[in-house]
Amino acid sequence: MRHFPIFLDLTGRTALVLGTGAVALRKEAALARAGAHVRRLPRFAADGLDGAALAIGADAPEADLVALSEAARARGIPVNIVDRPALSSFIMPAIVDRDPITIAIGSGASAPVLARQLRARIEALIPPAFGRLSAFLDTAKAEIRRRLPDLAARRRFIERLIAGRVGELAVAGREAEARAALARDLAAPGPGPSPGMVFLVGAGPGAADLVTLRAQRLLGEADVIVHDRLVSDDVLDLARRDAPRIFVGKARANHCLPQAEINALLIRLARAGKKVVRLKGGDPFIFGRGGEEAEALAAAGIAFEVVPGVTAALACAASAQIPLTHRDAARSVTLLTGHTQAGTVDLDFPTLARLGGTLAIYMGIAALARVAAGFHEAGLAPETPAALIERGGTRDERRIFAPLAELAVRAPAWSTGGPALLLIGPAVGRAAIPGILTKAAPAEPWASLA
Ligand SMILES: C[S@@+](CC[C@H](N)C(=O)[O-])C[C@H]1O[C@@H](n2cnc3c(N)ncnc32)[C@H](O)[C@@H]1O
Repeated sequence: MRHFPIFLDLTGRTALVLGTGAVALRKEAALARAGAHVRRLPRFAADGLDGAALAIGADAPEADLVALSEAARARGIPVNIVDRPALSSFIMPAIVDRDPITIAIGSGASAPVLARQLRARIEALIPPAFGRLSAFLDTAKAEIRRRLPDLAARRRFIERLIAGRVGELAVAGREAEARAALARDLAAPGPGPSPGMVFLVGAGPGAADLVTLRAQRLLGEADVIVHDRLVSDDVLDLARRDAPRIFVGKARANHCLPQAEINALLIRLARAGKKVVRLKGGDPFIFGRGGEEAEALAAAGIAFEVVPGVTAALACAASAQIPLTHRDAARSVTLLTGHTQAGTVDLDFPTLARLGGTLAIYMGIAALARVAAGFHEAGLAPETPAALIERGGTRDERRIFAPLAELAVRAPAWSTGGPALLLIGPAVGRAAIPGILTKAAPAEPWASLA
């Protein structure tokens, strides 16, 4: 270890910052956050060090930086000249600030870029609100100590607390619920499992880097993963290796597990004290039956949290470079499902045709002919721009752009059977990809559907 890490209490103490540029300003702000009284000088003056607990120099003339370094060392005041280890008696670590938790990363001044990259990774793993947990434990520690005087038992209890439901509720800012859960756990602090928690997590369209940081963290912490068919292996690879994965299927015509049984499974796992991640393709609350699972969990008194995901409409539009809204072309986006529970298509075509915005229709290709016919009858122009995107947002994405009438005819032969999304509306014609929609609409555009 080239440098010895310490955390300095600068509350109310003077810190000198020499320099005027952006780096000096950042250092000033960081020192102020730590409670220091910052004295900032544009040029070096020896009396600037009077009463200073620490000095930092950046963006100042070389002679001033050297003078600061020498004067501070002579007076035994820790000094850092940014990016100049030879002039410094201490180095500044890269910092992850989750107040009151602070993580400092040093590379012995040899590879600050590496330290900064490491910081970015740690930032991604620790939620911004993590500090809340520390603040919560601080307020609870006296009570915990009173109820559990034995140090080893107390430590075990707090470890379970942090990893479990109380910890999650505290991080989520649900303090009253966290307090109630803590009171219950303290009333029965024995080895039996306290109730677990369920996370209804959106897995996005399939690419692992389109998963939210929160989803990524939860996958790494989960005791068990319950997932759908639409969740990709790339996303599942983010999960803790030893966490069992339960596949509950749900292809359109091939329900592996009825919804009521999925609900019961989630409740059973949570009651066994598990931290359950219920992973769903896209967003859990968009055509994902997340609402039904949430209702069942609430009715059973199981704590749950919903973590949004990138829904297919957003993922498909983004990768096909289709602006879902456009100042000149679409002032609304409507998300619709093309098939009902009974397998029929039940959409209010006249109203939708009048909307004029972008329609994003979630459905199987099988429903496309009926959807196109419905719009035909409702009077939607056959040349209305449309796009069909299959496996959007994944490595295997395919897309086809054509006027709606033509698309409906071409789609069945084009499809490879993957999940596909239909986008309709003038904004689809504004896709940034050049050369699309160059084909003229057929002479008798809807005729082929009749
Ligand atoms: C049961 S819904 C689930 C939607 C999901 N909860 C979401 O927010 O994206 C399934 C439908 O979503 C659409 N879908 C899901 N993933 C897709 C993808 N990667 N590309 C295109 N469409 C997709 C398809 O229309 C598919 O039939």
